[in-house]
Amino acid sequence: MNGLTKIALAAGAVGLIGAAIVLSRVERPPMQSVQRGFRGTGMDQIYNPRMFAKTASLNQAPASLPQAGNAGPRAGTVYKNVQVLNNVSVGEFTRLMVSITNWVSPAQGCAYCHNTANMAEDSRYTKIVARRMIQMVQHINSDWTSHVAATGVTCYTCHHGNPVPQNVWFNGVGDPGTGPIKQAGGFSQLPSGKNHPATAANDSSLPYDPYTPFLEQANPIRVAATTALPNGDRQSIKQTEWTYALMTSMSQALGVNCTYCHNTRAFSDWSQSSPQRVTAWYGIRLARDLNTEYLDALKGVFPASRLGPNGDVAKVNCTTCHQGVYKPLFGVSMAKEFPELQASTR
Ligand code: HEC
Ligand code: HEC
Ligand code: HEC
Ligand code: HEC
Repeated sequence: MNGLTKIALAAGAVGLIGAAIVLSRVERPPMQSVQRGFRGTGMDQIYNPRMFAKTASLNQAPASLPQAGNAGPRAGTVYKNVQVLNNVSVGEFTRLMVSITNWVSPAQGCAYCHNTANMAEDSRYTKIVARRMIQMVQHINSDWTSHVAATGVTCYTCHHGNPVPQNVWFNGVGDPGTGPIKQAGGFSQLPSGKNHPATAANDSSLPYDPYTPFLEQANPIRVAATTALPNGDRQSIKQTEWTYALMTSMSQALGVNCTYCHNTRAFSDWSQSSPQRVTAWYGIRLARDLNTEYLDALKGVFPASRLGPNGDVAKVNCTTCHQGVYKPLFGVSMAKEFPELQASTR
């Protein structure tokens, strides 16, 4: 082997390793596609069956305990400090407590929320949060059927067996902060996140926190001009990037393409969009409602260790419920087996 061949072989090996590294970060074909709109509109869903199998195994609804029925004395008369579930039978109340434990704190048990020497006591902040969460779930299931339909949600939808749901966000999520990138200065200092990968938007260089303006505050999302001449600064590239960051995060949350909701030749036109876009419109309002009325409002209850770098509480986005799937738990309704979570039970 002469020197030149050795160099060529070495270069070839390095090239192969490089290709292997690059390919391992790419989804291996074949992909599959499903047509969802009229022919010729390109409204197809492209997905990878192997990635889908993984998501599917993570989003199975656990079996529910058998219902205890509505007979017998009310929890509100038997127990000392029941403020929300007063009208539920003691049997059903106990079943719910055991279910909540399985959904939220399976490793920690009843003691995650209770001083087990005195169950009536409200000394743990987690119990106060949980009481508000029960009201939040009742509110979602009874007042937000425009989004959750009859399927509804339970604590499991978001918590999946974790005291803190795996997918939550804080104001300024993805902010490069004072790290080396930000110190290097330049565009990366702007909240628009230029030149900095935005985790919320699939590592694109779009604004890094699309949640605060749209899922907590109620800034307008529409950017397509409806008049011949632009009016104000909403119809700008800058604003469009914010909207795209939100849209990318929504697509990621549901594991779908833009064409799940839009005919991409006219993003703004509702008459060419799918019915799912309407459901998503309500989903945006739902997330805002939960964040402002329930989570922000609980700020004083959480210990400092649970707050984000800017002192705010953990909040909800589409991923908190959807976890990568077009319908949480693939549309299986756990809520229908828990009538006390369907409507206000005071
Ligand atoms: C995630 C938090 C959480 C967990 C875990 C939990 N509970 Fe509760 N528990 C609550 C809340 C909130 C209330 C008050 C409900 C209300 O005000 O309507 C409550 C109230 C009670 C009460 C009524 C006490 C009284 O006298 O007022 C009993 C009894 C009870 N829980 C039993 C249990 C048992 C047994 C377990 C474990 C199997 C358990 N709980 C696990 C949150 C929790
Ligand atoms: C829409 C999503 C969602 C649903 C549904 C939901 N939660 Fe939560 N929950 C959250 C978020 C977000 C937090 C804040 C995370 C944190 O604690 O920092 C939270 C926090 C909590 C905490 C405090 C945990 C801790 O250690 O700080 C408890 C307890 C809790 N939830 C109980 C419940 C119970 C019980 C239910 C059902 C009745 C429920 N949650 C339903 C989103 C949800
Ligand atoms: C799950 C449904 C859904 C998906 C997926 C989705 N969008 Fe949207 N999109 C909406 C909704 C709903 C609105 C309107 C929001 C509002 O006005 O509150 C919207 C609005 C928009 C607008 C503004 C239209 C106007 O009137 O100015 C653009 C642009 C847009 N989306 C682009 C995208 C892109 C690009 C993608 C893929 C990265 C995408 N969308 C994925 C639901 C979706
Ligand atoms: C509180 C939990 C929760 C949150 C938060 C949430 N969703 Fe949903 N979403 C659901 C449930 C439950 C369903 C299933 C309803 C049904 O069975 O028709 C659903 C259904 C949908 C559908 C209909 C899917 C289909 O194929 O019919 C779309 C689209 C959707 N959500 C988009 C969103 C977007 C976008 C966001 C964030 C802006 C969001 N959702 C936030 C719980 C949630």
